[in-house]
Amino acid sequence: MSKLELKSVSFKYPRGKRMIFQNVSESFESGRLTTVEGESGAGKSTLLTLLSGLALPTKGELLMDGEPIRDLTDYRRNIAATIAQANHLFEGRTVLENVTYPMLLKGTDPQTARQKALAYLADVKLDEELATHYPSECSGGEQKRVAFARAMALDNPVILADEPTANLDKGTSRVIADILESLAHERGRLVIAVTHDDLLPERADVRLYLRGGVLEHE
Ligand SMILES: Nc1ncnc2c1ncn2[C@@H]1O[C@H](COP(=O)(O)OP(=O)(O)OP(=O)(O)O)[C@@H](O)[C@H]1O
Ligand SMILES: [Mg+2]
Repeated sequence: MSKLELKSVSFKYPRGKRMIFQNVSESFESGRLTTVEGESGAGKSTLLTLLSGLALPTKGELLMDGEPIRDLTDYRRNIAATIAQANHLFEGRTVLENVTYPMLLKGTDPQTARQKALAYLADVKLDEELATHYPSECSGGEQKRVAFARAMALDNPVILADEPTANLDKGTSRVIADILESLAHERGRLVIAVTHDDLLPERADVRLYLRGGVLEHE
């Protein structure tokens, strides 16, 4: 069982005027799907930035299994996998190459990486024929699923998703919700998703609401 913790975290952007978070403490556990809701500008994406290890708290700290995270590069590569709202797929690489890339970086041999990538693409219900397409040749929902397959291929225990169902139709949103649920419940990952719609919170084990710089339990 892993546990990711924010301990008395306050945060202000270097060029920002206000504190986005004020003394926030919260813990997240593996095997659970947590959703974070809140109004636009409340700081949801900023929260994921902190949990992804892309920014450091102004005050307080981020702990993994009770230990402060000191090596952010290692944390970003081996612990947290983030699916950004804009997906950030590699445009010059095919769908298959997008998914194999993080595995090759970690030293997986190309044949195994390819097999695993095809299995992950099947998990997110993407047709095998799409594997040779470039991201620009995929629909928005397909691109989102490629981003999920790529994040899953990292095999990291923490999965963070920023508005994973934004701009998707109901059917595709349900596929994404199924993936998030199965990552938490069947694969034991620690899953946190920021969202605006009702679908994900309905399936969540823990529902949080970000309001006035503080995380509240629903
Ligand atoms: N790099 C930055 N420098 C200064 N302020 C920033 C920066 N990035 C975001 N902000 C501000 O921080 C606040 C929180 O932004 P954030 O993107 O986390 O909100 P959000 O809850 O994700 O909103 P949305 O639902 O619209 O995506 C906003 O007021 C925003 O203007
Ligand atoms: Mg946001």
